[in-house]
Amino acid sequence: MTSFPPTGILLLVFKGLYFSSGSKLKGPELSIKGAQHIIRAGQTLNLTCRGEMVHSWSLPEAPSKESTRLKVIQYACGRNGRQFCSSLTLSRAQANDTGYYSCKYASSAVKKKTESTVYIFINDTGSPFVELHSNIPKIIHMTDGGEMIIPCRVTAPDIAVTLKKVS
Ligand SMILES: *[C@@H]1O[C@H](CO)[C@@H](O)[C@H](O)[C@H]1NC(C)=O
Ligand SMILES: *[C@@H]1O[C@H](CO)[C@@H](O)[C@H](O)[C@H]1NC(C)=O
Ligand SMILES: *[C@@H]1O[C@H](CO)[C@@H](O)[C@H](O)[C@H]1NC(C)=O
Repeated sequence: MTSFPPTGILLLVFKGLYFSSGSKLKGPELSIKGAQHIIRAGQTLNLTCRGEMVHSWSLPEAPSKESTRLKVIQYACGRNGRQFCSSLTLSRAQANDTGYYSCKYASSAVKKKTESTVYIFINDTGSPFVELHSNIPKIIHMTDGGEMIIPCRVTAPDIAVTLKKVS
């Protein structure tokens, strides 16, 4: 069989479909690499996400409630401006900004890796715990045989925590 020009065109169309089905799609990339990162309290957290599609951020509770310290700017980037970027700026970082920061593609049609996450510690020697101490202890319920999570997240990875039972 001889090959004729239309084959090339067909291949291109096929590649296009292949791409939009998500099989070859690259996940979003964060400017801070690695699983975790530490910044000091009071500093500005700068995080950029670059991807092949429109994406959104998912943040810990404290910064997501703050419109004054948090700024997210979206812009076109990459070769010929065909990629999607967004930069997140969180000023005056505080202990309870500690947590997972992730960037994910908006489309649920994409099955491959569509999310990139980094855990940010806001190192604050004055606030070793993310959740504030209060005079009225929080009550946690545990079901028999179930799993119980005691909220005791720290603001720096080198803080050693021990659990004590007070009678
Ligand atoms: C974030 O960016 C701002 C402005 O460019 C800079 O002043 C600040 O030091 C950066 N923060 C960190 C933790 O590098
Ligand atoms: C986070 O901490 C700040 C300062 O300590 C406090 O004002 C704010 O209410 C806290 N936010 C949440 C969601 O706990
Ligand atoms: C947190 O900050 C304190 C004081 O600046 C410093 O001594 C310590 O090494 C920092 N911890 C980490 C894990 O960066």
